[in-house]
Amino acid sequence: MKSLPSLHELISLKGKHALITGSAAGIGKAIAHRFAEAGATLSLVDIDGDNLTRTEHELAESGTDVRSHVVDLSDKSAIDRLWANLGGNEPDILVNNAGIYPFKHFLDMGEPLYRQVMKANQDSVYWMCQLMIGKRMQLGGVIINIGSTDGIQPFKEELSHYSMSKAGVIALTKTLAKEYANHGFRVNAIVPGAIRPPDAKATSKQILKGKFGVLKTGLEYMHRLPVGRLGRSDEVARMALVLASDLSGYVYGAVIPVDGGFLSG
Ligand SMILES: NC(=O)c1ccc[n+]([C@@H]2O[C@H](COP(=O)([O-])OP(=O)(O)OC[C@H]3O[C@@H](n4cnc5c(N)ncnc54)[C@H](O)[C@@H]3O)[C@@H](O)[C@H]2O)c1
Repeated sequence: MKSLPSLHELISLKGKHALITGSAAGIGKAIAHRFAEAGATLSLVDIDGDNLTRTEHELAESGTDVRSHVVDLSDKSAIDRLWANLGGNEPDILVNNAGIYPFKHFLDMGEPLYRQVMKANQDSVYWMCQLMIGKRMQLGGVIINIGSTDGIQPFKEELSHYSMSKAGVIALTKTLAKEYANHGFRVNAIVPGAIRPPDAKATSKQILKGKFGVLKTGLEYMHRLPVGRLGRSDEVARMALVLASDLSGYVYGAVIPVDGGFLSG
């Protein structure tokens, strides 16, 4: 039998360049750290310049070849400028992770906030995928889109706009996986469930400000969560590493929950 590649070779991202959006914080930052550990060079993209610089320094200190780009991904012309600046150094792996989830009751939603959510969560993924595939048509690559269980099974209150934007991300993932598999692109999505914010204080503050709905929804959520605890950003990052690497060489158009079993309930 032909000898199989070792696990070490399969999981390695040595020689790969990964671009991760929303990598100044949370899940994106965790993905950046795991990809760095696996040997990738990194392009970090975020709107938050201060946290982005902090993340870049942390990674550079541990020896990673890393560059950062301050970009508002809700602005199509800013996305175009980002790819123009990459000129010739387009990534092998693109992770579309940046996203926002402002709470707003369906009946109170106004057009500016609605558009902002769609532009940040959905349009940005569309344009980033278009540029990645267009620029690497001869080379192929890996795309990982970060959806949400809310795009499949909405649960949290006041997030209809968010659920809709994430359903779009899942639909785009499947479409592109099908259309571009034979051009060498592996496109997949991760749908995280509730991931514990690194700054749990933010949630406590919301509750103290009178947002008891957050607490109520949280309790109901925990009640139907098989594993009984929230996830960690790094647990999403581990799945991203599997999808980015040759460990998942035959995985196309998958929508993978990292949700403590929420969608199975
Ligand atoms: N945390 C969760 O429980 C959870 C659950 C399901 C899905 N998700 C999804 O995972 C992704 C990451 O979530 P997170 O909890 O780590 O969020 P986060 O708020 O901790 O980090 C998101 C990052 O994206 C950046 N960002 C936001 N809008 C941007 C824009 N217009 N341009 C550039 N950068 C922008 C932010 O500055 C931030 O650094 C999001 O797409 C989110 O919808 C999160």
